[in-house]
Amino acid sequence: MRLEKINVKDFKTKAFEIILKESLSIQKGSDKPLTVIYDDDFLKLFNSLLNVVTEWNLPTIFIFIPKDYQAMIMSNKTFFDDNNEINLPPQIAGAVENSKLILNFLSGDSRYSKIRGAIISLRKQYDAKMVHSPGISEEVLKILNKSPFKKIHKECELLAWALGNSNKCKITSTDKSGNEYTLSFQMDGWENEPFISSGRILENSWGNVPPGESFCCPDINSVQGQICINGSVPGYLLTPNEEVILDFKYGKLTQWSSKGEKVHKYFSQLTEDANKRGDLNWNSFAEFGIGLNPAIKKLVGNPLFDEKMAGTIHVAIGDNTSFGHGVKSFYHDDLVCIKPTVELDDHIVIKKGILNIQEMNKWKSSTLYEILKFNDNDLLTHYPKKMSFEENMMFRILLKGDRKGKVAINRGEFKILQTRFQEMFHEGNVRYLELKKKFKKKEINSLNKMLSLFNHYKIINVKHNEK
Ligand SMILES: [Fe+2]
Repeated sequence: MRLEKINVKDFKTKAFEIILKESLSIQKGSDKPLTVIYDDDFLKLFNSLLNVVTEWNLPTIFIFIPKDYQAMIMSNKTFFDDNNEINLPPQIAGAVENSKLILNFLSGDSRYSKIRGAIISLRKQYDAKMVHSPGISEEVLKILNKSPFKKIHKECELLAWALGNSNKCKITSTDKSGNEYTLSFQMDGWENEPFISSGRILENSWGNVPPGESFCCPDINSVQGQICINGSVPGYLLTPNEEVILDFKYGKLTQWSSKGEKVHKYFSQLTEDANKRGDLNWNSFAEFGIGLNPAIKKLVGNPLFDEKMAGTIHVAIGDNTSFGHGVKSFYHDDLVCIKPTVELDDHIVIKKGILNIQEMNKWKSSTLYEILKFNDNDLLTHYPKKMSFEENMMFRILLKGDRKGKVAINRGEFKILQTRFQEMFHEGNVRYLELKKKFKKKEINSLNKMLSLFNHYKIINVKHNEK
């Protein structure tokens, strides 16, 4: 009995092992320096993390930024630049600048969100890999223990592919009496890249835990219709009697109706606060996301969990600049809907909350792109960072905002051609004629097919020129 007890690790220690292994790809004995940034709220979990980094012999620096000190930074003008953004104290900034692997476990306190934002933007400048988990808690660690990373990753990738590959989206939601509401918007195909939050963080990127979401930020002006939010709004879990119908016109939330007190409280607080700040974009459609984590079994009113629960989707209102788009707001509020039906182009990818994996796989394996006819004078622009080739698989790299993701798009078909194409044509423009000259006559058909595939995924842009 005793021996058994010694071998059983507590769930907190296990969860930190999972974060290091799955999210940062760190192995036991790794010599890559790790930086941990935390505050008072993390102290109750600190020893569990310490156990792992000592057992794994990881070179680690711990940066403790007490919440009182964060409050001092926020109240002291000398830490703000002309754009009202934070300049972190040099020792803290220096530690972030010199780190390639960061665990950011500061509290989720909204009063200090600018400090966390400053760390995120510093990370971007110095290309570190970072897990950003504001207000990480025992609950998050429990979910991590149960999260099937492989399955989540696979489904996130497939959903991101479907979001990227579609031109229009229609969401149907149902209220407690069975009335249906539809919300629709334009997706713009691969011109408008989707995002993946699968818990596996790529080089020079960052992500949240718990994982499990694919999302996008559609053309806001095209968002029209209604949606029944019957899951949660930030801070409040909704019962069926408290559901709310939202009306969107040209991407703005113009009306909401609900019998629920919580919803009234939520919206009156939000609008009052937005008025005080003079924030006109609080009601701007900002995101459409799909939750894909089956370890999250119930909604709790905390968007960090709720937006990732499998069987749900969410729309957000407020800011979309963190997704590389142009609407700035103080808010980004996720509003969660359960049992929705989602149609991308003519494919029902989610039916009453159930993923239709088969339909998406069928869609993905069908012929997706038209084979273009090229003229010698056509001008091709190449974006090499949008593609990678690993172990016989071609990936579309997602680069929008300061996040990074990848989606498999082709299995080995163009391996040799693609390598030669990339070797001779790194970045920028080339005439089709110049390119054609570098390939043998019998290769031209395959070259055209590959270029058509690249064009579909917007890895190249083709400007047709008849002359
Ligand atoms: Fe989201």
